Amino acid sequence: MIDGVGAPRADASRPRAASAVTRLTLTDFRCYARLRLEVAPAPVVLTGPNGAGKTNVLEALSLLTPGRGLRGARLGEITRLGAPAAGGRGAAWAVAATVEGDPAGPVTLGSGLEPGTPAGAPERRVVRINGETVRGQAALGFHIGALWLTPAMDGLFREGAGGRRRFLDRLVIALDPDHAGRAAAHAHALRERARLLRETRGETRGETRGEGRVNGRDASWLDALEDTLARHGVAVAAARRDLVARLADALAADDGPFPRATVALDGTVEGWLGEMPALAAEDRLRAALADGRRTDAETGGAAVGPHRSDLLVRHAGRDLPAALCSTGEQKAMLIALTLAHARVTTRARGRPPLLLLDEVVAHLDATRRAALADALATLGAQAWLTGTDAALFADFADQAQILRLVDGNLID
Ligand SMILES: Nc1ncnc2c1ncn2[C@@H]1O[C@H](COP(=O)(O)OP(=O)(O)O)[C@@H](O)[C@H]1O
Ligand SMILES: [Mg+2]
Repeated sequence: MIDGVGAPRADASRPRAASAVTRLTLTDFRCYARLRLEVAPAPVVLTGPNGAGKTNVLEALSLLTPGRGLRGARLGEITRLGAPAAGGRGAAWAVAATVEGDPAGPVTLGSGLEPGTPAGAPERRVVRINGETVRGQAALGFHIGALWLTPAMDGLFREGAGGRRRFLDRLVIALDPDHAGRAAAHAHALRERARLLRETRGETRGETRGEGRVNGRDASWLDALEDTLARHGVAVAAARRDLVARLADALAADDGPFPRATVALDGTVEGWLGEMPALAAEDRLRAALADGRRTDAETGGAAVGPHRSDLLVRHAGRDLPAALCSTGEQKAMLIALTLAHARVTTRARGRPPLLLLDEVVAHLDATRRAALADALATLGAQAWLTGTDAALFADFADQAQILRLVDGNLID
């Protein structure tokens, strides 16, 4: 265990301390009625048999950042089954953490399901920073950035573009927490527009009015939604372009033992931004949406926008799309991407993000295990690693704290 890896340093020209969780408390969170961990700002290894609760701890950490966490779970499903309802209110999960590394001093972050949400009402996540309830989740992102790799992401390169877009957006959010709000506003406007087009479909087709126009009130509501889509859509695309450019640079400079990946964006709006200023791209998107109403009403979607983009990843050495590489190579490329992104974030935000690496080490050969341990030490990031086999973490032993979980209990 390295003492003081995350401690503030006197020399301002050196990298700032990593974001590190030094205290974590879970309440009615999945298999945990209550769990309390105190760790140093150095890597943490969680070992234990299947079902011990390792991934749940990583999920709890991921919920200290904006979004739905590393399982993309609905809020209600996280609450421990069988947790007692408190004071007439429904049971609700909570996560609390002390985060070090902020130059202003340690911060306490809290999040959880809002207790007492009536059945059927939308579930809401509460967020507390230093004990104060704050609106929205974006504020969390300014205190801590986190990136994760889980076994559920093993098919990322082979499966649909949706998973890659979510992955890409999470990389952007780690750098620019406001991206989460813009992407959510875009997705919301997209759903609203699809609903309106569906409701007015006959009119859009021109069946009732004969001229293919929706009535005046609906038309101005559509205009307003498409304006929102154009503004947020271009902002989302621009943030993704910026991230991919930085990631590409970091990957090009990478001479580590993981296969080098190249990244590129495939998206209409992202493409426009390479050819014209953002305001012109907004106008073009607004016009494309207005023109596309009739076909979009038929398909139930929207033909143009950043919700159709894709992140293209290739194996640089083989010049092959990542999807055609072996499972092991794909995993190694994901690790390379994650480490490159951690370097980008460290440069941009002044401190490395939290890295949540679920069952990653088991897939690596001895050389790459050692390389990962080295890369994490160089980054100075607090990584939380899991695995069933404690022996695989020998390379981490001198820098990491190894905790063992069995049936949701910490074994000393
Ligand atoms: N809402 C919940 N309430 C109670 N237990 C849960 C809930 N969600 C998941 N679990 C349980 O948590 C246990 C530990 O899961 P996990 O953290 O994924 O284990 P692992 O150590 O293999 O990563 C599983 O046995 C699962 O059934
Ligand atoms: Mg697990």
